[in-house]
Amino acid sequence: MAAAPVSAPLLRRYRDEFPIFRNAIYLNSCSLGPLSRRSRLRVNQYLDQWESRGAAAWYDTWWSALSELRDRYGRMIGASGSAIALHPNISTALTSVAETLDYRQRRRVVITRLDFPTVAYQWLARAGEGVELVMLDTPDGVQVPLEAFERAVDDRTALVATSHVFFTSGAIQDVRALADIAHRRGALLLIDGYHAVGQLPVDVAVLGPDFYCAGGLKWLLGGSGIAFLYVRPELTGTLQTRATGWFSHRDQFRFDPGELVLHDDARRFEAGTPGMGAVYAQLGGLDVLEELGAAEIRRVTMGLTEELIERARAAGLRPKVAVDPAVRSGIVMLPSDDPAGDVRRLASANVITDARPAHVRVSPYFYNVSDDFGALLELLKS
Ligand SMILES: Cc1ncc(COP(=O)(O)O)c(C=O)c1O
Repeated sequence: MAAAPVSAPLLRRYRDEFPIFRNAIYLNSCSLGPLSRRSRLRVNQYLDQWESRGAAAWYDTWWSALSELRDRYGRMIGASGSAIALHPNISTALTSVAETLDYRQRRRVVITRLDFPTVAYQWLARAGEGVELVMLDTPDGVQVPLEAFERAVDDRTALVATSHVFFTSGAIQDVRALADIAHRRGALLLIDGYHAVGQLPVDVAVLGPDFYCAGGLKWLLGGSGIAFLYVRPELTGTLQTRATGWFSHRDQFRFDPGELVLHDDARRFEAGTPGMGAVYAQLGGLDVLEELGAAEIRRVTMGLTEELIERARAAGLRPKVAVDPAVRSGIVMLPSDDPAGDVRRLASANVITDARPAHVRVSPYFYNVSDDFGALLELLKS
């Protein structure tokens, strides 16, 4: 079911946008999205402002770059910028949620074995306060059946915290169904969308999570140091996080240490000064993604993913991916007896992938082409 490829001039344009392709075949966007020319331009712009204007740039330039980024992150997931809090990484975004919930009546948090460990750590760290982590198992290492959530979520559950796309299998979860399960039992739903936003169209109004986080590192092409937390607007005013700072204060330039009055909007979940270099790198990455649009990115990435899976099977490999192609995404796990060694050997042939337990993880994105798979499959099949 390979999708029609992007037209040749368009593809050339987007491939040229990422200088790494001059020296390498980059197939590792799900670890770190490659640097685009546009991100470099934007970061240079920031450095020029810092050099020439110093702190004066805060008031008329950098402050508006922050609200621009909140708005643009919001648009990527169908939300308003006022529902977005900026964070330096997913872990701090999760901490601000973990520090918001009241565990006295409902002490359980339901997660799955396939979620990224930083999700679990938030609540393992609160075991001393009586918080209980319920970890759902996976029958196949690829997905977790909805029935497992149905069975686990009850009136002891404060939160279901799980992934939109699993980092270790690329399988897409049915967020709408998860929201319904959580809400029917009076629990909240937090979604780690680090592997979804950018490569999939996401609309939180349709999917219905209470919290949704993602960030620049991977599919949003923004590099490290910038992430976001969406908070469902109807909920925001009722929540108060203890992981806070002066950026959550409604009137932060009053510098009043005597009173903490939180923003009415999602900024109440922010804490301190953002890394502006990371903000600018992310704005550049979004320039590219917005131009293409999430639907087109999904179409092209799906085509490449399906082609890789087919060719891997033809080469005698057994990719670990979801059975149903509709819930696959741009993460393909290829079995390997020596993942670290294979990743090293591939790197010496200028093919950049990543190692995960028993697998080489390959993540095609819209700037890849069929030819990028040749050397990879040749090396892994032998
Ligand atoms: C799905 C997922 N969530 C969270 C993280 C960790 O995020 P951070 O380092 O931004 O806290 C990763 C790391 O790669 C990840 O893949």
